Amino acid sequence: MNPVPNSRAEALQRDAADPLAQRRALFDLPEGVTYLVGHSLGPPPKGARERMAAAQADWAQGLVRSWNTAGWIDLAERTGDRLAALIGAEPGEVIVADSVSVNLFKLAAAALAQARTYALFVEEDEFPTDQYIAAGLGGLSGAEVRRLPAGGTFEALKAGGVVIRSAVNYRSAEVADIAAHEREAKRHGARIVWDLSHATGVLDLKLGADGAELAAGCTYKYLNGGPGAPAFVYVSNALAPKLANPLPGWMGHAAPFAFDANYAPRGGAARFASGTPPILSLAALSGALEALEGADLAQVQAKARALGALALARAQAMGLDALSPLGDARRGGHVSLRIPEGYPVVQALAARGVMADFRAPDTVRFGFSPLFLTYTGVWDAADALAEILASKSWDQPQFHARAKVT
Ligand SMILES: Cc1ncc(COP(=O)(O)O)c(C=O)c1O
Repeated sequence: MNPVPNSRAEALQRDAADPLAQRRALFDLPEGVTYLVGHSLGPPPKGARERMAAAQADWAQGLVRSWNTAGWIDLAERTGDRLAALIGAEPGEVIVADSVSVNLFKLAAAALAQARTYALFVEEDEFPTDQYIAAGLGGLSGAEVRRLPAGGTFEALKAGGVVIRSAVNYRSAEVADIAAHEREAKRHGARIVWDLSHATGVLDLKLGADGAELAAGCTYKYLNGGPGAPAFVYVSNALAPKLANPLPGWMGHAAPFAFDANYAPRGGAARFASGTPPILSLAALSGALEALEGADLAQVQAKARALGALALARAQAMGLDALSPLGDARRGGHVSLRIPEGYPVVQALAARGVMADFRAPDTVRFGFSPLFLTYTGVWDAADALAEILASKSWDQPQFHARAKVT
């Protein structure tokens, strides 16, 4: 592992030796912006714009025929297969569909239907949607819902229920050891539904090798699929035939155009499709994936962590309190700092072209998308933060006005 750059000159050297540097040209990025929010909404790859334009043309010219002639009917599955290659899964184990929230519900309900213990578990610092889905499914199914302390999943697996667990925590970026959790789950007849939202496209995931059976994740963060891009479902090929989709729509049917009154599921993860796939968004995602495909995911992960380590070192020098683990192996692609006046600080950074995000009550997050960021950019962003904090230039009325999305 290379040491963290200690100067701007060293950051420049790291950029010159960066094996991913050429990929920046695959993105449409505005001039003068250092985009540290790829963990929230990735920027548009050029391929996304091209595939969206092509899908619009197919819509206008091919009309309804394009379901066949442009291959729309299989796009969710084909895109799922490409995504599978990026998370260490096999063809047929991933389908693109719905949102993470809906997919967590479907997978947790399917796992619960055959659980050894009729109970759902979720840690109290999980992303809120994961907690709401567990509570909602508990209310509907009558399953017991247990809220675990942060980090309490491993112990809870002994009870043998169904756990919803992030592979990378949305706030701290703490990474869970998927393989160790899965070994423990299997020992006790428990099942884990992994939320891969903050892991996909930035970590070198090996779902199959790690024994993961069920997962959902989003595609608008490090996969750069676009705002509201559809999410994905992963189900191992071994488990899929044993599971029933609790929202069995016609698109999960083996022959949707047979218009059979009785449900017969498709094979693999595709049985977790429910309704008509959002073709325009899928087209954008399918083009966006080209920006990541062919990259060495070990290099992608290493660069994200190296940029994070640089940010953490600079933050430490400023005396800031880090919420993220300092050890690279324990951290995903983002870094969170605790800054009580975080909201106006983020606005003041944006005014200088450095985009980050704020998570109430006091967390400022910086995402390190490795495909388009540079070491120099992160170095300069840290300079901007240091200057804003030292001068207190964040304390101006325009930076305090709260928008709906932070
Ligand atoms: C960890 C995590 N899970 C779930 C979600 C919600 O996903 P969706 O809006 O697709 O339901 C998010 C959104 O940012 C997230 O960060």
